[in-house]
Amino acid sequence: MSDQVETAPELDDDAPLEARSPEGLDDEALERRAAALAEVLKFGDPVLRSKASPVTEFDQALGEETERMIAIMRDGMGVGLAATQLGILRRVLVFQAGADAPATALVNPEIEWSSAVEFATAEEGCLSLPGVVLEVERPLHIRVRASDPNGTELTIEASGLEARVLQHEIDHLDGVLILQRAPKEQRRGAMRALREGGTYAPPRPEEEAGDAAAGGDPPAAGNGAGTGAAAGSGAA
Ligand code: NI
Repeated sequence: MSDQVETAPELDDDAPLEARSPEGLDDEALERRAAALAEVLKFGDPVLRSKASPVTEFDQALGEETERMIAIMRDGMGVGLAATQLGILRRVLVFQAGADAPATALVNPEIEWSSAVEFATAEEGCLSLPGVVLEVERPLHIRVRASDPNGTELTIEASGLEARVLQHEIDHLDGVLILQRAPKEQRRGAMRALREGGTYAPPRPEEEAGDAAAGGDPPAAGNGAGTGAAAGSGAA
């Protein structure tokens, strides 16, 4: 399994969260990806709107749970996963911001500081919103306090993609989806795609002059990462 991760294309800051492009995977990896994504709750499940409870027992079961989450994240080609997405309402997340970065599990994460003036807007996908990519504005820098699965406290200072993944997953623990963070027009297009089983990606600048307002369908082409996450099996 780790072979697959190591050979996966490096995730860059332009790739949408929380999935990597499935392009270039062999059949076996695609099967593993489908099996992993089948375990992830999808839009419409009320659990995704629920607030998770703090973890109070740092026992062996917690360690096993985070190992399982990391396996599902990797097989699913995700860069992050919250326990909520597996139907477990406990404040646990895993993330791996880049193919070469280590997978990290955080328990009871709290954003204790975020940059008040520096924000960035970037496209995000979500394993729970297949086929949807949305633009989300978030603070560029954050500091997160959490525990590891053994109960050891740690502080993470994160910027850029890592900060974005962490904020996305902590949102999941609070029952917040990127639909609530995106511009209203995009949310409308995404909702239509989710209802109709289609795909949605924000209009690119060169397409906005066209009929972008007329439909929620994403462009057939675009940057590779966006297309990969939004199209295909809808498993991004
Ligand atoms: Ni997500």
